[in-house]
Amino acid sequence: MVVSAHPEASRIGLEILRKGGNAYDAAVATGFALAVAFPVAGNIGGGGFLVYRKQDGEVGALDYREKAPKAASRDMYLDAQGNVIADASTLGHLAVGVPGAVDGMVAIHQKLGSLRWAQVIQPAIDLARKGVVLTEREASMLNGAKESFLKANKFIPNVVRDTPWQKGDVLPMPELARTLERIRDKGRVGFYEGETADLLVKEMKRGGGIISHQDLKEYQSVWRPVVTGTYRGYKVISMPPPSSGGIALLQLLQMVEPFDLGKWGWQQANTVHVMTEAQRRVYADRATYLGDPDFVQVPMASLLNPAYLKNRMVTFDMGKATPSTQVGAGQLVAKESDQTTHYSIVDQWGNAASITTTLNGGYGSKVVVEGAGFILNNEMDDFSAKPGVPNMFGLIGGEANAIAPGKRMLSSMTPTILEKDGKLFMVVGTPGGSTIITSVFQAILNVVDHGMSMQQAVAAPRFHHQWLPDRIEPEPAAISSQVRESLQKKGHTLQNRSNYGAVDGILKGKDGKWEGGADPRGDDTALGY
Ligand code: GLY
Repeated sequence: MVVSAHPEASRIGLEILRKGGNAYDAAVATGFALAVAFPVAGNIGGGGFLVYRKQDGEVGALDYREKAPKAASRDMYLDAQGNVIADASTLGHLAVGVPGAVDGMVAIHQKLGSLRWAQVIQPAIDLARKGVVLTEREASMLNGAKESFLKANKFIPNVVRDTPWQKGDVLPMPELARTLERIRDKGRVGFYEGETADLLVKEMKRGGGIISHQDLKEYQSVWRPVVTGTYRGYKVISMPPPSSGGIALLQLLQMVEPFDLGKWGWQQANTVHVMTEAQRRVYADRATYLGDPDFVQVPMASLLNPAYLKNRMVTFDMGKATPSTQVGAGQLVAKESDQTTHYSIVDQWGNAASITTTLNGGYGSKVVVEGAGFILNNEMDDFSAKPGVPNMFGLIGGEANAIAPGKRMLSSMTPTILEKDGKLFMVVGTPGGSTIITSVFQAILNVVDHGMSMQQAVAAPRFHHQWLPDRIEPEPAAISSQVRESLQKKGHTLQNRSNYGAVDGILKGKDGKWEGGADPRGDDTALGY
């Protein structure tokens, strides 16, 4: 089964599975297909994370997150007065981190794939040659980004045209097809060296960007040990730093486990209150302690220490909200060492891939590499440009996530796998910037505590709290007016928000069959056989 953000990408992944490819062949094929069919977030100019579980129980994680270029510096987004320059880390060439996606796909294929490289990339090339038929949502997203594309580029890229895009129009992608062919024929060299690298570096120079040939040549993805924990008897396997996602998710699950959420009921006042108070505390920790483990010591063991997490909830009051001004990062026991997209795959043997990949904002920096036809990320905004100043997701960071050459920016992406009784149970993840962690958290609670099916769990309306700003942000239908009132009485502020990411998951159903959950918030599609 393949569940992804686009019907064409799910179709391509499924074809690979039908041909006898394993989940990792399908993951690579789906990843390249998303770069073509879902340019708002699917990419070869961004980066991502894989969490995998093989049929024999082996687990691991691949970090193919972007890196700051060598010429990057701590205060590169500050003006002479030390203020953050508007848009500098989000729009245009200076916002771009060194892409990791292609190295990631190559590494996944080399370690875990079974089909030939050319076989898994060819369907995406064919799709790019044919051109992508736009859905209504994609046409509208492209129209919405037109001005930014024109601002970020010195030429008119294929994603822009005079008349508005309509559903059913075909987006031509001949240059992207040629770039993918170079990757097909030369592997990572087809992207990080030679013609593609020349075009990318030329594009950087044209727009004042700083990625060099050396940055590209030296980029390497990294295999990392997963972070694991348990929740009500399920084993939870997730992404370690430089994502904050896995640690934050495990913290949240441990903090709410003592409470009987299932009995209290879904989206009832006590349930929302406890979850919110846990979220507030976890995001405060995130802002202080989390960063690239190759550059800073992330105190993972302390942050997941049961005694520490119990202590974090000591100030929790069932009757009232704790204002975020009274919640800082926890005192550790000991110091120690919008757009994104997620897809979940399980093959006939029970191998699982949980992948979240991103350009950061929708269409990333909006920079299209002239002659190479792909969009570059604006992942540099995931660094903390200045301590205490929020990034585009309103997230605050500090020293641990300051910019440094070659460093990876902190992420919230949370590709996750659950086991039950030692067997694969659930594969799940989502886009959504800072809401990624709380959305994965809720998808898990929806299944484990509230008995929902995978489809119900991904579709159910959600809420989010990230410490600062100090408010619960529910989707309009997430919390009834009666529960809102009761939360307000406890001292919570609520403000609706609508831009939640599309969660895509796969679950072992009660009948023993795999059950896909494709989020109706997007064009997401679950296909299986
Ligand atoms: N760019 C979103 C994230 O990595 O969290």
